[in-house]
Amino acid sequence: KKLDIIAGARPNFMKIGPITHAIHKHNESANEKIEYRLIHTGQHYDKKMSEDFFDQLNIPKPNLNLGVGSGTQAEQTGKIMLRYEEAIKAWKPQLCIVVGDVTSTMACSITAKKEGVKVAHVEGGIRSGDESMPEEINRMVTDSITDYFFTTSSVANENLKNLGHHNDKVFFAGNTMIDSLYANLERLIKPSLFDENQLKNKDYLVMTLHRPSNVDAMQSLEHLLSLINNNVDGKKVVFPMHPRTKKMYDQLGMNFENLLITGPMSYLEFIYMIKNALGVITDSGGITEETTVLGVPCMTLRNSTERPETVTQGTNEIVGTNPDNILPFLEKLLLGQWKKGSIPELWDGKTADRIVKIISGLD
Ligand code: UD1
Repeated sequence: KKLDIIAGARPNFMKIGPITHAIHKHNESANEKIEYRLIHTGQHYDKKMSEDFFDQLNIPKPNLNLGVGSGTQAEQTGKIMLRYEEAIKAWKPQLCIVVGDVTSTMACSITAKKEGVKVAHVEGGIRSGDESMPEEINRMVTDSITDYFFTTSSVANENLKNLGHHNDKVFFAGNTMIDSLYANLERLIKPSLFDENQLKNKDYLVMTLHRPSNVDAMQSLEHLLSLINNNVDGKKVVFPMHPRTKKMYDQLGMNFENLLITGPMSYLEFIYMIKNALGVITDSGGITEETTVLGVPCMTLRNSTERPETVTQGTNEIVGTNPDNILPFLEKLLLGQWKKGSIPELWDGKTADRIVKIISGLD
């Protein structure tokens, strides 16, 4: 069997890592080996957004880097498609595995499908219902041409059923991002800023913001940062900044006394920080899954989520970006009065093994 595994942006790396490891494990004992190419589209290219994750998560070096870099949605999509098309012609894989919902996911799935290569979507079937987010379009387009869905939740299974996809194409496998989490819990690294700022366990918050709707307009960014800074009861908020957010933050030229601003953190450092935090404030999707498994309170500064099980079962609350909504949740978080959650079904660290077993049995 010959397959391509696609990774492009930071949240892809912790999802593909376990799949590569599971393939290697499979190949040790299987009669029919799985051959694969790991293809990095180059959507994320900074060392701290990409290479550091490969190193820490022991992901093999990509066989190919398409080197697309930054650009508009259309520029990135177009470049990825052109370059991946050539790569397909050169090797003729039978299956293309895409993960998550980034531009690379969508661009490679379209290209593969048009070249007659079957598409497997890991984390297929999830929906936020918010079509103003590029990720939602990526999910919709990718799923519309996916041959095999590997899903993280029963809600995703339901969504796919409602969209008319047959049960025999949908495999409820669990969450490969959580495979990475469990595999690395004993290897976490305390970042130097922890002691430098005399942080104490369960006495600081962690915040991440990178959604265009929160960070691309100076006013909304300033508004959110001031609101958090002024309402954390003097506690420190560790804020590892995404490059997109930093661009706008630098233009703001403001200082916030309670925000400990730092660059993007490595995986092992970031998980250390959220695991030991009193709570997390984020507009990410994946982080709400990690906090759910770690049992850490999480506030999502968005109006919707494509991962509703993090709210119904986990520790996540969708609080939007309106101060009237944020403040009561922040108060509860600081008082330690947060709901207790449970871990969703099959988020058990063994998802990639299940996926590879299924893939090895496909025609
Ligand atoms: C992408 C994903 C988003 C994911 C996020 C995680 C899409 C549509 N969005 O958003 O779902 O949550 O990654 O980080 O795919 N930049 C750098 N260095 C890098 C990468 C990006 O400086 O290594 C800067 C560039 O100026 C770029 C900007 O960040 O223009 C945004 O990067 P881009 O890849 O377009 O999307 P993200 O906002 O990172």
